[in-house]
Amino acid sequence: MKTKMVLASSNPHKLREFREILEPLGCEVISQRDAGIDVDPEETGSTFEENSAIKARAVYEIARCPVIADDSGLEVDALGGEPGVYSARYGGTRDDKAHNDLVILKLEGVPDSERTARFVCAITYIDENGEESHFLGKFEGRIGYEERGKNGFGYDPIFMVGDISSAEMSPEEKNAVSHRGKALRLLAEYIGKK
Ligand code: IMP
Repeated sequence: MKTKMVLASSNPHKLREFREILEPLGCEVISQRDAGIDVDPEETGSTFEENSAIKARAVYEIARCPVIADDSGLEVDALGGEPGVYSARYGGTRDDKAHNDLVILKLEGVPDSERTARFVCAITYIDENGEESHFLGKFEGRIGYEERGKNGFGYDPIFMVGDISSAEMSPEEKNAVSHRGKALRLLAEYIGKK
């Protein structure tokens, strides 16, 4: 029998990525909305791990079946780790272009060698008995000087990996090296061993 798990998100992009990796392991992944669960807890944690756990616990309390949640964002070293857990609402907006303009502006005059940054993805998995496990993936790069590329989303156009931005990578290329891809594969390995 397939193990049914609820993804604590209704974002179709995330749902597809989780399904691609977990369905071959015999897991059926359904979105929070399709499970009829309407909770949207405040993400009050100061780390990605805490926020993914907050989301997973809120759904587990209602669903009482295996739950997965993720939280992700960008850390820029020269900005002391900003935007960090505020990545989705940096500068008080939810506008990707405004986020990217703000990061570039704040890095004005900062040389290449100090523009290091990383995407981070934390996944929390809660099994049918309520046992929690955490998985972390990181994707290292640096911040460019202008937006480049049309793929991806969020900060991808300003996140440089070598000579190209992560918005210039194909989805397959990005998944192979990305923070979310890495955290997801660690989760898949754990579920596969259970
Ligand atoms: P959340 O994980 O849905 O809370 O989203 C966190 C935010 O981090 C997103 O809105 C994006 O701004 C940013 N982010 C997370 N992962 C990526 C990525 O792979 N590319 C670009 N931006 C990302």
